[in-house]
Amino acid sequence: MCISLLGCKDSGSDTSGTENLEPSLRNSSPYPFGAAIQIKHLNDVNYVNLLREEFNSITGEYQMKMSPMYNNPSAINFNDSDTFVEFAEQTGGRVHGHALLWHSSTPAWIENFSGSDAEFETLIENYIKDVVGRYKGRIASWDVVNEAIEDGNGNALRNSVFYQKLGPDYIAKAFRWAREADPDVKLFYNDYNMAANGDKFNAMLALVDDLIANDVPIDGVGFQMHISTDWPSQANIEASSSQVVARGLLLHYSELDVKVNSDKSATSFTPELAETQKQRIKTIVDFYNSIPEELQFGITMWGVKDDDSWLRSFLDNENEWPLLFDENFNAKPAYDGILELFE
Ligand code: XIL
Repeated sequence: MCISLLGCKDSGSDTSGTENLEPSLRNSSPYPFGAAIQIKHLNDVNYVNLLREEFNSITGEYQMKMSPMYNNPSAINFNDSDTFVEFAEQTGGRVHGHALLWHSSTPAWIENFSGSDAEFETLIENYIKDVVGRYKGRIASWDVVNEAIEDGNGNALRNSVFYQKLGPDYIAKAFRWAREADPDVKLFYNDYNMAANGDKFNAMLALVDDLIANDVPIDGVGFQMHISTDWPSQANIEASSSQVVARGLLLHYSELDVKVNSDKSATSFTPELAETQKQRIKTIVDFYNSIPEELQFGITMWGVKDDDSWLRSFLDNENEWPLLFDENFNAKPAYDGILELFE
């Protein structure tokens, strides 16, 4: 399918997306710089132009999760994921697949599955193999399992439907099925509060070490990085990131957004807030630049423009400005801060 907004190959326009070597995130960053997007954004020409200019990695913010893709038990719906993959191919970027198994995006019919555990296992195996196999060689990576570890409760494995029906081994199985479907795609474990909760991070490390010890094909770890200007500490971000790197695993800051107004006291995005956010992001990217190049999978912002951020509704706070562009597509100081590092 050709999406006309993007400049299709047969229209004679340049489809590489890299023709303009003005400073931009994608032109200046030594590793892929990405954004999470929704399918509706691809109908907005300004949005598409900004994506083409600035980002060379996209993550489906919603549409490549199991709920939208497998809402109908009779068939997996690939419409939106196909569009994302074609968009990336036409603009010279990559797609990071998000996410194969996530307790928070599981269709009701799977949550309430009434067949045997063996039937459930076959269903999940086929789902993973069908989805990963469809994009074999075209998608760079998948979050195979997202948020499997509880925040509290001793940081045990979350009691998801996958855990209930397949047991703790569901994680290893999911990675193996994904690898069978695509021998080269990078496979990630992704979770939040990795730098903020030492116990949870240690549980994640134990899980990953166990996968490695059992020859389970895991390539990397995603730190979601839904953070604030003052939380968690930079020291914790660096210490936890370094432990992933020390294992030779790829590190993806997979869902970065930086809250500036957690106490909801601000009613406008002041120059002071902008500067604080700039310095915070700059420090984080500066550290990321220092990890071994071959382990820099990339940094992905969880959205493009402040007004599209999931945090506004999630936190019930219209006065939050966590991303790199404002609602009018203008680059914010945090954006300039990142470019300053790359120059
Ligand atoms: C959020 C999206 O931003 C929302 O649009 C969606 O409705 C719910 O999920 N951790 C994740 C992401 O791994 O998938 C979540 O994204 C944010 C938290």
